[in-house]
Amino acid sequence: MTAVAIPGLDSAPTTHSQVLEWVREVAELTTPDRVVWIDGSDEESERINKKLVDAGTFVPLEGKPNSYWAASDSSDVARVEERTFICSQSEADAGPTNNWMHPDQMKATMTELYRGSMRGRTMYVIPFCMGPLSDDNPKLGIELTDSEYVVASMRIMTRMGSAALEKFYADDGSERGFVRALHSLGAPLEPGQADVPWPCNDTKYITHFPEERLIWSFGSGYGGNALLGKKCFSLRIASAIGRDEGWLAEHMLILKLISPENKVYYIAAAFPSACGKTNLAMLESTIPGWRVETLGDDIAWMRFGSDGRLYAVNPEAGFFGVAPGTNWKTNPNAMRTIEKGNSVFTNVALTDDGDVWWEEMENMPSHATSWKKQDWTPDSEEPAAHPNSRYCTPMSQCPILAPEWDDPNGVPISAILFGGRRATTVPLVNEARDWQHGTFLGATLSSEKTAAAAGKVGEVRRDPMAMLPFIGYNAGDYFQHWIDTGKSADATKLPKIFYVNWFRRGEDRRILWPGFGENCRVLKWIIERIEGKAAATETPIGWVPSADQLDLSGLDDPIEDIEACLEVDRDEWRAEIPLIEEWFDKIGDRLPTSLRDELEALKQRLG
Ligand code: GDP
Ligand code: PGA
Ligand code: MN
Ligand code: MN
Repeated sequence: MTAVAIPGLDSAPTTHSQVLEWVREVAELTTPDRVVWIDGSDEESERINKKLVDAGTFVPLEGKPNSYWAASDSSDVARVEERTFICSQSEADAGPTNNWMHPDQMKATMTELYRGSMRGRTMYVIPFCMGPLSDDNPKLGIELTDSEYVVASMRIMTRMGSAALEKFYADDGSERGFVRALHSLGAPLEPGQADVPWPCNDTKYITHFPEERLIWSFGSGYGGNALLGKKCFSLRIASAIGRDEGWLAEHMLILKLISPENKVYYIAAAFPSACGKTNLAMLESTIPGWRVETLGDDIAWMRFGSDGRLYAVNPEAGFFGVAPGTNWKTNPNAMRTIEKGNSVFTNVALTDDGDVWWEEMENMPSHATSWKKQDWTPDSEEPAAHPNSRYCTPMSQCPILAPEWDDPNGVPISAILFGGRRATTVPLVNEARDWQHGTFLGATLSSEKTAAAAGKVGEVRRDPMAMLPFIGYNAGDYFQHWIDTGKSADATKLPKIFYVNWFRRGEDRRILWPGFGENCRVLKWIIERIEGKAAATETPIGWVPSADQLDLSGLDDPIEDIEACLEVDRDEWRAEIPLIEEWFDKIGDRLPTSLRDELEALKQRLG
């Protein structure tokens, strides 16, 4: 076959044969007008941003340096779980919670979608590294994309460009392997055809081939569907690698908690999308003497260190945070991070003085442009910002960033928290009896659906370890991997597991717990439990504090509210049992028997 001449294809800044081969193969299939190799420099970023401004995708903000407003197509605002596939060779390996298609069939279908799909556009080659560049074994990827928005966002969210490309060779000069991540908007342009500000395609596929460490994404420009280093690589593909290699890739924030005695503790917490990870990661403590620093807000890779403790690394370099609800009171550290600029805001409102605004932010404008690009005033029926609108901002700008955030060895985790949104039943905090019980709590985690994924908001669903949309293999095997992880370790060195719920509501539907900075009261109790200093009450579901066992000093919320958040109602829990049984039946024969045993034990305790 004769090679097609595509400008830029042959000007690769690397001789890495697997990279060159794959880039050529994709370029010949998708036929972009040109290929650009991304180096990550400031000049390049200016060029890309200008292109986005000229295309109408980006509007430069007056109110923040080097920052942009973007409004997506109104159909392309969230992850699309029903269009997300795990294409392992065998259907059983994708398991009962993932969509599956045979890899050959999926490739045949998607190859036809990709054929010519970059016509009229530029294909960018983005070398990137998930996790610190200084890691002896860096986790590398290449994203090929025809979206400048993706290039600009990947620059914030990952370590990318020349610095990453250098790592494609090991010290001995050999070529390192990498994850192949192909993304196309699926919106080719005919000669002379005008572009739209947010190109995308009604047909969407977010597809993973875990055995080949390969990702194919088509038709969407939205973050979780298009920034392939994040959910696709660092969770779905990485969870499959972690199963093979004996480590964990989890949907968890990582925070550092410093006590008044300057003792340092690291906590990881898994909450489903839009359930409070970014906020907890940046918490500003309301208890004198206690302080939080941030290491990550969405993803943790965890493996045992030589001392037998579980160490966590955040593979990302940026925050992709939910905008609505973020303000100077709820999350001042996020506000300080974005104030510094260098950020992309998607589907928030644009104010008349060229700044951003969203629901619950201070200084509500009397007029703005909504995310739908319509006039908005406080009287408008529709929100100014989409509920899943996002800020994308560099971690390095966070004023409470922990200095060790870039340490390839990670940080030793003392506690793992699971949590979700539950209006009833689940108390504010509950300590697992041991690792296996904690795995049971994680495996049965439930939460009301949020706007972070397309679909009906508010429905309660099981979201095990907050990983339902992100487990890259069979969920039963994933639970077994958690059980085995605990068994392989010295139990005294394992993190203690807790289950939290910031979202319990009263009869009047009001959220009872003040949340946000006040969550430090729960973190304090957790640490004191680990230190053997705090009291708790044994309940059928685990160890739960009574109100007087929590530090509530200075909190002026009614004590009845706090007591109501802590209540463990046997009838509510008895009603939960058939739902857990139904869930376990869905997992099927790969469900670890130890989790069935935990369910039986819970039933016994509930009487
Ligand atoms: P993430 O997607 O898991 O990172 O969740 P975020 O931290 O971005 O929060 C998602 C939404 O939940 C935002 O609107 C927050 O304002 C809200 N939220 C976060 N933490 C709390 C909390 O402790 N209490 C309440 N009531 N809402 C919270
Ligand atoms: P989130 O991340 O967990 O911060 O919402 C994005 C997502 O999960 O879609
Ligand atoms: Mn997430
Ligand atoms: Mn978040």
